[in-house]
Amino acid sequence: MKHMIQSVTSIALLILLISDVTAALPPAFEGRKLYISHCLLCHGIDGKGNGPLAKKMQIKAKDLTAAILSRSDSALQQIITGEARDTVSDRPGHGQISEDMPKWGNVFSLDQINALIAYLRFLSTSRHTLTGDPELGFRVYRKYCSICHGKEGDGKGTMTNLIGIKPIDHTNPHKTDKLTNEDLARSIIDGKGRFMPAWRDILTKREIDGLVSYIRLLYQVWGKLEAGGLVIVLRSPTMETNVEITRSLLRDTSCKSEENLSEKGKARAIRIGKQFKSRGVPIEHVLTSPHCLAKETATFAFGQAEPVEYLISGENLAEDQAELYTSQLEEKIGSFSGKGNLIIVTHESNISTLSFQFFEEGNFLVLMPIGENEYEEVGTYKLTD
Ligand code: HEC
Ligand code: HEC
Repeated sequence: MKHMIQSVTSIALLILLISDVTAALPPAFEGRKLYISHCLLCHGIDGKGNGPLAKKMQIKAKDLTAAILSRSDSALQQIITGEARDTVSDRPGHGQISEDMPKWGNVFSLDQINALIAYLRFLSTSRHTLTGDPELGFRVYRKYCSICHGKEGDGKGTMTNLIGIKPIDHTNPHKTDKLTNEDLARSIIDGKGRFMPAWRDILTKREIDGLVSYIRLLYQVWGKLEAGGLVIVLRSPTMETNVEITRSLLRDTSCKSEENLSEKGKARAIRIGKQFKSRGVPIEHVLTSPHCLAKETATFAFGQAEPVEYLISGENLAEDQAELYTSQLEEKIGSFSGKGNLIIVTHESNISTLSFQFFEEGNFLVLMPIGENEYEEVGTYKLTD
């Protein structure tokens, strides 16, 4: 009998584990665990560089909260894996990262490194400290809150389809950062509006503190987009090049005979614009491919669009023409500076030339200009659809 109970619980545990794997863990939440087990010894609990091992070894582990502000995600990936020890820009000495910082390339997968970076971004930008236990918060959130707030905290839980509610998006730092830990705890204890229940009699104080800390880690920073000065490259909807090749490549500035955006495409573009706006991403200027699908996407999303010839789909151009356009584009990106960000709406083939990777619709690429025609890749980000 005892044996049977054991095997039943282990099956239950297995199912629990499997169901957890299917929903992605929030990167900063995952990153925090890795940070505590692998980085805290040197960089300290708050990332400021005063960990116990650093003191013992008499090494200066960097204050990561300050150091990473000027670094792109891809530069951080290379520093942490140890791939690019000697090519880190804007460092004193010979621009080398000292051997005192271990090389983690063989220890972590790329996903884990990205999770670590998400946590470092949290440490360096969040105004709030974690006072509760996020692990406990995670378990309670999945049990009681995900049904409305969504497994990933994006406000799209099952209940939102059943009753017309709009829980707040806990992954949006622009919204949650304004609220203090006490504000969040109060909403949980007392409830809010018509549909957010009060949990006063159901949850303990420890559980509520844990929830508040977990909500903080749901925070998904879109790199450094809020600070401006970056170039955001979005993919235009795909043109029907195989079916009606002549029609799609037709150039018609009035967009009367060229392929146009469907109602679905329009709604999608509007949603994209809203996502940037709600995250407080400042937009300085919008350049687009002269094709109507791209122009319309930009106009519906951002209310402005300047078509330029060098953003036209490179796929059907003669090689030297394509090269010329690419170099014009690289110069535009490398030399951009501004308080807001520059948005570029162009085609998959052109984006692949910039970043050497296939680019899925629904993702966007962020680049950091470093002068003339040079730029660094900040990272690829996902739009929530
Ligand atoms: C044995 C101590 C030690 C451990 C453990 C350690 N680091 Fe470091 N780290 C250092 C030292 C020392 C430096 C400063 C190197 C320098 O300035 O040349 C550093 C520098 C860095 C930098 C570069 C900061 C910059 O931009 O200049 C990053 C990023 C970093 N560490 C991340 C991590 C992460 C993530 C972990 C955990 C996976 C980790 N470190 C674990 C010692 C350590
Ligand atoms: C029945 C659906 C539902 C459940 C279950 C639910 N929430 Fe909510 N929650 C909402 C709605 C709807 C709002 C928006 C309330 C408003 O502003 O009118 C909300 C708002 C909040 C806020 C307020 C943010 C602010 O703007 O102040 C917090 C914090 C919160 N929920 C946390 C939780 C936590 C933690 C749990 C689980 C213990 C939970 N919610 C469970 C529906 C729900």
